[in-house]
Amino acid sequence: MQRTLVLLKPDCVQRGLMGRIISRFEEKGLQIAAMKMLHVSPSMSREHYAEHVEKPFYPSLEEFITSAPVVALAIDGLNVIEVVRGMLGATNGLKAESGTIRGDFSSSRQMNLVHASDSPESAERELKIYFAEGACDYESVAKNFLRA
Ligand code: TYD
Ligand code: MG
Repeated sequence: MQRTLVLLKPDCVQRGLMGRIISRFEEKGLQIAAMKMLHVSPSMSREHYAEHVEKPFYPSLEEFITSAPVVALAIDGLNVIEVVRGMLGATNGLKAESGTIRGDFSSSRQMNLVHASDSPESAERELKIYFAEGACDYESVAKNFLRA
C-alpha cells in the first residue's frame, strides 16, 4: 500500500470541479485517507515546489497557488503514486490526453487543476507539508469517532 499527496489547485476550487475530480479518485477505488481546505502561504509554496524555486516560471506559479484556497488530500492505494499521476495526464492541459483529468478539464499549462506527488520520496516530503503526523491515521480517526 502507498500514500500520495494530491492538491486540488485554486482553479479547481474556483471552477467548482472539486466534486467531479474527487469522484474520479473514488471511482477508481482509491481510498481518501485525509482531506482539508487551506490557503497555501508563500513559504509553503517554496517548500512544496522546492525543485522549481529557481526556475523562471516560479514567481508566477507561486502567485497562482497562493491566490485562493486549495484542497489537500492524502490518497491511499496500491501503486497509488504512479496510478494518480497517470490519471492526471501530462502537465500541460493542452497536451494531456483526453480521458485524463487535465486532458478533459484543462487548457492551460499552469492552471492544470491538480497536483500529485511524482515519487515515493516526494510523496513522503509533500505529505508532511500538508498533514500533521497522525492526521491520516484511519484507525485513530475511527477510534476517536467511537469515543465521541
Ligand atoms: P512540474 O513539476 O513540471 O509539473 P507537474 O505538476 O506535472 O509535476 O511543474 C509544477 C507546476 O508548475 C505545474 O503543474 C504547472 C507549473 N508550470 C508552469 O506554470 N510553467 C511551466 O513552464 C511548467 C513546466 C510548470
Ligand atoms: Mg512536479
